[in-house]
Amino acid sequence: MSGIRTPIVCLLGHVDHGKTTTLDKIRGSAVAEREAGAITQHIGATEVPLDIISKVSGDLVKKDKFKVPGLLFIDTPGHHAFTSLRSRGGSLADIAVLLVDVTDGFQPQTHEAIDILQDFQTPFIVAANKIDKIPGWKTNKKDVPFRLSYKNQEKRVKEDLDNRIYEIVGKLHDKGFNSDRYDRLKNFKDNVGVVPVSAKTGEGIPDLLMVLIGLAQRYLETELEFEEEGPGEGTVLEVKEEKGLGKTLDVILYDGLMKTGDSVLIGRADEPVETKIRALLKPNPMEEIRESGSEFSKVDEVRAAAGIKVAAPDLGSVRAGFPIRVIGDRDTDSLKEEMKSQ
Ligand code: GTP
Ligand code: MG
Repeated sequence: MSGIRTPIVCLLGHVDHGKTTTLDKIRGSAVAEREAGAITQHIGATEVPLDIISKVSGDLVKKDKFKVPGLLFIDTPGHHAFTSLRSRGGSLADIAVLLVDVTDGFQPQTHEAIDILQDFQTPFIVAANKIDKIPGWKTNKKDVPFRLSYKNQEKRVKEDLDNRIYEIVGKLHDKGFNSDRYDRLKNFKDNVGVVPVSAKTGEGIPDLLMVLIGLAQRYLETELEFEEEGPGEGTVLEVKEEKGLGKTLDVILYDGLMKTGDSVLIGRADEPVETKIRALLKPNPMEEIRESGSEFSKVDEVRAAAGIKVAAPDLGSVRAGFPIRVIGDRDTDSLKEEMKSQ
């Protein structure tokens, strides 16, 4: 059976420009909506279902208009890991949010992030973050759509923001992208939308979610179709030693199904490692960790898109960025060849 999977959204940008704070804000807004349980914490990722996005964004996202089930956010701590992940693991993100601190502008890792997105032809939007830090900015109300905040600012503050946004637009132009403030754009297909936000106050966050969902819906619908029972495919995000489990892999599964006991191939450059999944683990919520003392619970199977911890023998040579594939009923040797040439 085929379905539409959750799009994978990467947050990227220069150090301190607000990736983690933005994700925390989205999560926090959902908690404020008393829907905390609906947010699923994955290994290395956070899943926000469509009806929560719809609530957080107020009237901006009408959930019955959209088919995507939600968004799976991946934060990228430190650009270096992300670079190697991207270059070795291929295009993991379906869409991306490039965070740019409006008070700091384009920085080395902003440029690097755009180069990566360009290489992989990943559609993206820009979050022009920290608008609350613009001199004279007044936050009358938290978590409101951008236009409500903007209209209450003094003329010189509005001009200051617009100038900073034009600077971003100019930098994007140098990189070969047409862009504008998102609410001045008619066509998102040939233009990058720039959404002014404050991850701290939540101003503009409803707009950010709306633009993201719109992008996912309009341009990715066909690419997000997947075989729900097909052999799982993913990328190793991190290799981690866990107490009692030994070496484990944090994996983002972007296609198909992965089950305990499945034989998998991991790696590419040299001979891929062949091993068998001993356990699939998902993180326990805080309360359960307190009760059981255990950070993870075992699951029998997992479907894309998801972040999952994989325990298996013979992981010694596995590195972050490696692809992982369930062999299923395919021929192991030809799958190995296919993975080598990727
Ligand atoms: P790295 O993971 O180190 O690359 O940084 P990051 O992009 O995740 O930045 P992070 O979210 O950790 O934010 C860095 C600092 O900026 C923190 O002190 C945040 O509180 C602050 N910050 C983030 N967003 C905003 C914002 O919208 N307004 C203000 N005033 N501060 C912000
Ligand atoms: Mg961070």
